[in-house]
Amino acid sequence: MYPSILSFPEGFLWGTATASHQVEGGNTNNDWYLWEQQPGRIRNGDRAGTACDWWNRAEEDFDRARELGQNTHRLSLEWSRLEPRPGEWDTSAFARYRQVLAGLRQRHLEPMVTLFHFTLPIWVAERGGWMNPETISLFSRYVEHVVRELGDLVTLWCTINEPVVYAYQGYLRGIWPPGRQSFPEAVRVLRHLLLAHGEAYRLIHALQGEAQVGLVKNMMYVEPWRPDSWLDRKWAGFMNRLYNELSLIAVTEGRFLPPLGRATVPKLIDSIDFLGVNYYTRALFGVDKRRWMNSLNPRLNTAGIISDYEYGEVFPEGLYRILKHVQRCGKPIYITENGLPDADDDLRPYFILTHLQQVWRAIQEGVPVRGYYHWSLLDNFEWSEGYRMRFGLIEVDFATQRRRVRRSGRLYAEICQTNAITPELVERYAPEAMEAVFGARLPSAVKEMG
Ligand code: BGC
Repeated sequence: MYPSILSFPEGFLWGTATASHQVEGGNTNNDWYLWEQQPGRIRNGDRAGTACDWWNRAEEDFDRARELGQNTHRLSLEWSRLEPRPGEWDTSAFARYRQVLAGLRQRHLEPMVTLFHFTLPIWVAERGGWMNPETISLFSRYVEHVVRELGDLVTLWCTINEPVVYAYQGYLRGIWPPGRQSFPEAVRVLRHLLLAHGEAYRLIHALQGEAQVGLVKNMMYVEPWRPDSWLDRKWAGFMNRLYNELSLIAVTEGRFLPPLGRATVPKLIDSIDFLGVNYYTRALFGVDKRRWMNSLNPRLNTAGIISDYEYGEVFPEGLYRILKHVQRCGKPIYITENGLPDADDDLRPYFILTHLQQVWRAIQEGVPVRGYYHWSLLDNFEWSEGYRMRFGLIEVDFATQRRRVRRSGRLYAEICQTNAITPELVERYAPEAMEAVFGARLPSAVKEMG
């Protein structure tokens, strides 16, 4: 039996996510800034530059988010602004973030704050960044200052954004700073990030009793590239463990397992109040005997629906399966990112509706999903892809800073406002999603059933 309406739980959080360097503009004191100055690092020679100019005008976009019915926003703080030199705290940067967070609250947008989203102050990077174990204590000192200064405005904290993605892109693929290609280094960085999470978790709780602290984990739905190959099946299992599982085991059971090492880390036991799930795509892994490194790179199912520049396959069911899987953490779950690059917005309505249907399905089966953050509120600086990938519900013209709400932005607004998805809504925005969301039935049939 298909439902005639998909209703979400009362109090469900509906929002969007952003990250400091991708939207603020004017961040010239972090490792990404230096990276962007090097020829060939960023697609089309783009640089973050002014980005969405949020350092000056975030509030205008908060107004838009509010008008679009959202009740929360996830953003990150820029460590390089708050601590521009070792142990020196920039009071004007703290004041600006106070304004930004208060601005969210005034608009009834519950802030969710990420403490590390890929960018390091130059001085931390110069000391070896996350390769250096000292960064763990530097990070704790920064977190302590942040919680003391801004904690009255925030209860939802994310410590580290996507530790595996960070280690993979910067230390294995080498396409993000510091551009290394070394498996042992990637593993070491991942270990340090997880340890930093554990320290931050304890610290935040010591300073703020009511805090809710989570780790944000990118989860790929992993399958073998050639399902009939025994080797690919084994390999996909290994990559799934490496990519998805090890960090979760670390922050719940407090255990490092190979290749992270073999150790029990008491500070990591039960060190999340919630799990943040970033879900974008299905990934196929297979063994490439000729070019070994290729085996580490996810492949796309080319028979599927693919988003701009082959960013990913649109595979909504993967989100459901992941949610069912991570339910075993026994913690509330926020979908802290989910989205796609889609400049002409022809896939996004379908993407939103079908992914939310899978979220709804998981909730029906008891998975405690508390909120959903679409990536992103507006087009922004997409790391090494520069500005060509457009993830926004709102389109940005970066030459003029003009905004235009995309159709998908209005669709998402209707969902946020009604806390539900109806067949009528699907028919209006993406009739092609009707079958996936409500079964093959037409809306008229639903009405007849009354
Ligand atoms: C990151 C974002 C990024 C998004 C889209 C996530 O991995 O957290 O910073 O923009 O994916 O690629």
